[in-house]
Amino acid sequence: MDFSLNTIKAAMGDHPWAEQIIFFDTTDSTNTQAKRLAASGVPEGTVLIAAHQTAGRGRLGRQFHSPADVGIYMSLILRPRCKPDKLMHLTCAAGVAMCDAVEEALSFRSGIKWINDLVHDRKKLAGILVELLFDSQGNVDAAIVGIGINCNHQVQDFPPELQKIATSAAMITGKPVDRNTLAAAMIRRLHRMNEALSQPLNTMEQYRQDCITIGQQVSIHRGESIRYGQALSVDDEGGLVARYDNGEIATVTSGEVSVRGMYGYV
Ligand code: BTN
Repeated sequence: MDFSLNTIKAAMGDHPWAEQIIFFDTTDSTNTQAKRLAASGVPEGTVLIAAHQTAGRGRLGRQFHSPADVGIYMSLILRPRCKPDKLMHLTCAAGVAMCDAVEEALSFRSGIKWINDLVHDRKKLAGILVELLFDSQGNVDAAIVGIGINCNHQVQDFPPELQKIATSAAMITGKPVDRNTLAAAMIRRLHRMNEALSQPLNTMEQYRQDCITIGQQVSIHRGESIRYGQALSVDDEGGLVARYDNGEIATVTSGEVSVRGMYGYV
């Protein structure tokens, strides 16, 4: 099915953000474009959507594979007007909003691998990249919430190194996905997320329910160091609470956490 600005807008009815969508057939990265636009002063609720990215970016400086015409690559510009420590949970809130959107549009609920991957059946369905821009006082000038979701990919649409660890909505449901309907659901759920951003407690409770990392054996990679342990919980700021194998309990707020049995970690 055709994926276009008009069809997404039609699926959104009179939603307040429907008139603020910018659609690209192809761009380098919607997050890069969103940062540029945010710096030029566009309002909260500006949504950039691409059918193809040539330089999609992921967390920890990784690439995000963004082939043409099978995925949704979206960035939302928010203006939360607060200090960055009030936004520690934003990636988690976006993860819950994405689980809600997938459930609404596709009738299944994915899980979340801490902190920013949507997963289903141990494979990656979507990724989230939050980036902040600051004003001269150190307040947040804009928060960019970038989401890439694999929609109509078949196995051969992924490069060989991703074929065993990535999945798509069409592979999960067994039928083609209408990206217009899903994109509209994503924007609606992100709008609700934004309205609840200053009261994180319910969101974080839902995040803990969706987070498949909790209870699992994990390896925690920070720089050159790798430590092993068990994920115990996620705190209200989005930190992963883990018990290392020597008994020490620590909260992990950055770096890569691998879950045993996923993405090739045995
Ligand atoms: C990750 O898997 O680490 C996060 C991936 C985030 C990808 C999305 S696609 C839309 C937006 N533009 C980007 O360049 N990245 C995000």
